[in-house]
Order: sequence, then structure tokens, then C-alpha cells
Amino acid sequence: MDSIRITGGVPLSGTIAISGAKNAALPLMTCGLLTDERLVLSNVAKLADLATMAELLTQHGIAAEPEGRTLSLGGRITNTEAPYDIVRKMRASILVLGPLLARVGEARVSLPGGCAIGTRPVDLHLKGLEAMGAKIKLDSGYVDASAPQGLKGATIVFPFVSVGATENLLMAASLADGVTTLKNAAREPEISDLVHCLIAMGAKIEGIGTDTLVIEGVKTLHGAEHPILPDRIETGTYACAAAITGGDLLLQNARMEDLGAVLHSLTDAGVVITEEQNGFRVTRANGLHGVDVMTEPFPGFPTDMQAQFMALMAVADGASMITETIFENRFMHVPELNRMGARINVHGSSAIIRGVKKLSGAQVMATDLRASFSLVLAGLAAEGETTISRVYHLDRGYEAVEQKLAACGARIERVN
Ligand code: UD1
Repeated sequence: MDSIRITGGVPLSGTIAISGAKNAALPLMTCGLLTDERLVLSNVAKLADLATMAELLTQHGIAAEPEGRTLSLGGRITNTEAPYDIVRKMRASILVLGPLLARVGEARVSLPGGCAIGTRPVDLHLKGLEAMGAKIKLDSGYVDASAPQGLKGATIVFPFVSVGATENLLMAASLADGVTTLKNAAREPEISDLVHCLIAMGAKIEGIGTDTLVIEGVKTLHGAEHPILPDRIETGTYACAAAITGGDLLLQNARMEDLGAVLHSLTDAGVVITEEQNGFRVTRANGLHGVDVMTEPFPGFPTDMQAQFMALMAVADGASMITETIFENRFMHVPELNRMGARINVHGSSAIIRGVKKLSGAQVMATDLRASFSLVLAGLAAEGETTISRVYHLDRGYEAVEQKLAACGARIERVN
């Protein structure tokens, strides 16, 4: 198994090109199930999670052919089962459920198992599809769903915001009979990207960017070409890398409008953000101050940035409190950061961070995707050498981490 070795203490300086968003690419790829025609996605990052989704689509009969940064999807659905062996690798596999049901009236999808960052049920996905007329049974660890008469439009009010359920129902509703209204829908930029792609495929959707999406179902969708938006979480993560090392990074292709809450918190902490053509620059010349944050659905502070921001707060002046409201078990990076000299205590859903002057290099273990990068950040700032094991978590969602960081001066390497 690979590890990453970092010798910390170098202020990063240079340009990092931000890749296409993983969390946009995953639902966009499942749009390949919604049409017989070719769907061509561009700005596709090379990531393990996207390879897993390609594998899943291929076994449904949809070929996913990469060419550079473009992914061309096409074929006919030949199999409606999403097997445990693939779904267990990646929860987002549940996103094939809505498209398969809408398109061919049946789907058998393994239930995603427990997950490192909480129980993460899929009840909202299932209830929404039931409201649209699907019959759903749970059988031997699988969701067995059918809609022999097709899906019907419905009004669905989510009791709380779910990104995945909004995506699944958006795709299903695009091919349903009649009008579907999704209330309290997620407003993440990845949802708007999905809506843009569906509209390019012929879907009729109103309310883009708001919490009420109105979808008038159409009989068929056609092929389209769609560029994937830049990854806001990768952007925020590298912004933290500039901040924690006291460096100067130009984040190319990055969109400030997708990162309002994160940039606000970084600025409060003493980081300087400057808009540039085709991106923005992140610098820090002076000290960092502790800042409190609470994770929330978009446009709030994203849970996917919580671990990275905590690494930053670990070396800030004073104390800060980070409250996680989206997932119940998302502090697994805390003991690892503490092994590097951080002073963090968890009380329920909040972590109190008392900033220290210096972290020290240590052997640590990655536990989930974003937690892995918080350890990379800590390693970049720490005195001495840090070795992070289980980096397959990192490879799920960050493209070419060592290359991007090394090009900006980091002393980082992958070891087998
Ligand atoms: C997506 C992102 C993930 C991000 C999360 C929150 C992708 C591939 N993943 O995950 O990186 O951390 O949004 O921004 O885009 N819930 C239920 N029942 C459901 C669905 C969700 O109880 O049927 C709960 C979850 O356990 C969680 C909360 O709702 O506590 C939000 O989850 P959700 O927005 O659905 O996250 P994902 O779509 O899984």
C-alpha cells in the first residue's frame, strides 16, 4: 500500500491548476444512463472514484471512454443491477438508481454499507422515488425498485437538505410523466452543474440555484456536451495549503463564487485572497487567528472542508471551535492531528482547537478522503517528516496531489 512522505516547513509558492469537480462528475456520469445518445463530458479529472463510476456504468451497458480530459458515455442499458462489490467502494453509486428506474422501470442497487463518516442512510432517495410511484423493497442488502408504469411527477419536500437525494430525484424526474417539484432541494454548485447538463440534454427544469426545483418530465433526453465545473473543495483545500505554509498560490480555474463561506473564514483568519484573471491568489504573510466555523449545506461552510480548516486552525493564534452539523462522525482526523502535536478536544459535534506554535512530523493514517488531506496540510506545516499511510483515500478525490504540491516547492513523495 502506498504512503505519502512529506518534509514540512516550506512555504508553497506557484500555480496550481484546479481539476474538474469529482462531486459534479459522479452524477453527470450517471446521466449517461438517461439517453441512448452520446454524452460527452469535458474537464474530467483522473480520480479513483470516477474510475469506479465508469466501471459501474460499463456493467450497466454504458461504455465510458476517456480521451485526455474528456469522457464519452454511450450505449444501451443491458443490466439494471448495481452489485455490492462496486457500490461498497463508493456510496455515490446509489446515483444510478433514479436514472435506471426512470429509463427502464427497474433497478436493483446494493445498499451502500456503513461509511467511515457516519451512517449515511439513503431513505430520502427511496421515499422520493416512492412518491413518484416506484415500488421499493429491501431484499438481501439490495434496493429492489420497479416502476412498470413509469415514474409520475410528484411534490417532494425534503425534511433536510441532501445533495445525493436531490440529484437522484432530479434525474428521475427529468424523464417522469408530469411535473415534479423538489422543495428544500440542495443548492450546491454541483447541483446547478447537473441541471445545466440535463437542460442541454433536453430536460425542462426551473429554479436553478434555488431550493425549489420544478421539473417538467419529457419523453426522451438526447446527447449533449458538457464541461464540468472546477472542484471547489480541491480549490479550498489548496487555499488552506497556501495559508498553513505562509505561502503564495495562484489557484487557476478556481471560482470564488462557489467558495463564499470558506473564503470568508480564511480572510477572518488573516489569509489574503485576491481575485485574478481565471482564478484567485491566496497568500499569508502574517499570523493566523482562530476562527469559529459551523458546517452547513451550501452556501454555508462545506463539511468537505471541515478537516482541512481544522488543520489550519491547529496552528492559529488562540482557540477556535468547529461544529459539524452534516455528518455525525466526521472527526476521525482529530486523534491523528493530535499525534502531530495539535491540541484538539471533541465535545459531541464540536471540536475545540487550541492553536499551537508548531506541529511536529509523525506517522499518521488517512481515514477518509478529506481527513487525508488535513494530514497532508499538517505535514506541510510541521517540523520534520510526516508519513501518511492508506493514501488510497486521497486518490479517490484529489488528482496528482504530489505533482501539484511538489511543483510549488513542497518536499513530498509517494512511497510504496
Ligand atoms: C454529498 C457529497 C459529499 C458531501 C455531502 C454533503 C457527493 C458524491 N458527495 O454526499 O462529499 O460531504 O454531499 O455536502 O456529492 N441523509 C439521510 N438520508 C438520505 C440522504 C442523506 O439521512 O437519504 C443524511 C446524511 O447521512 C447526511 C446528510 O443527510 O447526514 C447530508 O447528506 P447528503 O447531502 O445526502 O450527502 P451525499 O449526497 O451522500
